[in-house]
Amino acid sequence: MKFETKVVRAGISPDPTTGAIVPPIYQSATYVLPEVGRDLGFDYTRSSNPTRATLETALAAVEGGRYAACFASGMSTVDAILRLFKPGDHIVSSDDVYGGVSRLFNQILVNYGLKFSYVDSSDPAKVARAIRKSTKMVWIETPTNPLIKVTDLDAIGKICKKNKVLYGVDSTFATPALLRPFRYGADIVMHSVTKYLSGHNQIIGGVAIVKTKELYDHLRFQQKSIGAVPSPFDCWLTLAGLKTLAIRMERHSENGLAVAEFLEGHPKVKRISYPGLASHPQHEIARRQMSAFAGMMSFELIGGLKAGRSLMNSVKLASLAESLGSVETMITHPATMTHASVPKKARLARGLTDGLVRISVGIEHKDDIIEDLTQALA
Ligand SMILES: Cc1ncc(COP(=O)(O)O)c(C=O)c1O
Repeated sequence: MKFETKVVRAGISPDPTTGAIVPPIYQSATYVLPEVGRDLGFDYTRSSNPTRATLETALAAVEGGRYAACFASGMSTVDAILRLFKPGDHIVSSDDVYGGVSRLFNQILVNYGLKFSYVDSSDPAKVARAIRKSTKMVWIETPTNPLIKVTDLDAIGKICKKNKVLYGVDSTFATPALLRPFRYGADIVMHSVTKYLSGHNQIIGGVAIVKTKELYDHLRFQQKSIGAVPSPFDCWLTLAGLKTLAIRMERHSENGLAVAEFLEGHPKVKRISYPGLASHPQHEIARRQMSAFAGMMSFELIGGLKAGRSLMNSVKLASLAESLGSVETMITHPATMTHASVPKKARLARGLTDGLVRISVGIEHKDDIIEDLTQALA
């Protein structure tokens, strides 16, 4: 099946009792056993649920993995993955990761003995140098949140293979419509399903997709033991959103490029980061590994924070909001919103200035989005 077909059809078959074309929402906590010691495939929804299983089958197929495990958020997914490790284990991570991921690593998991090194993973040599004897995983976010840096997944895959360490990729900003980390040797592909995969700002969710039974068993054990699982209704909404992923990403990418080109040519814009622009430092790598560049970009205005604040307070169509990857265009101030939990010194060290503005370009008509930005920048 081609990707466009998979997002609509993978894992979906007519309901065996009624023929319903849309899989039902199995809003049930428990399941009646026909006799002691025998169930019909499900026993308790924390462990598994038919609607969640349908979504997991679909997401594994769409990403090109073998197994998927869904969680209640992107964050609980990252947490479940990191529970693979023991005190003293070391993880090399991209330096520019979502603020919630930094918070989980630096304020929670370090208390359980995990060690982290942060490197600019757009330079693979830095990743190779950061690997120690105790390194168990390299964790890459690409493109990154919020600086939209791109990592050469093939180069990192070779480093992970040579050093026999796990390779995890947070592919939230790209989605399987545009990027396939498994092709470059990834062991775990993770998404905040809250964003593009569900696509409609209705749910919070996450998924980890893997190729081996061993990793899958670990994830299933986390679902069952911790219980940070999505509700059947959230899984059902995600299944509905997933069906349009291919066409949404086409439109996000088309609009994204148009908005990025507009901003790059605007006299008030000091610098912009969008992987589809030739000016992006990793544009060639992005072109090689991504089929298009989605709708995420960040930029800085001449006039810094004051100018950025004025823009964010003046938009009318774009919504000033935390999230990204939905059909609506959203504008965010990373320093006070998505990355507020990163201490200021650490934020500035990685280039995340107070004046940085992030836009998630939606699927409205690009002329309307550009018109809105034009009036807000005037
Ligand atoms: C790249 C990335 N990874 C993980 C997350 C966390 O996902 P969630 O908000 O679904 O917990 C986010 C949220 O913004 C994100 O942008």
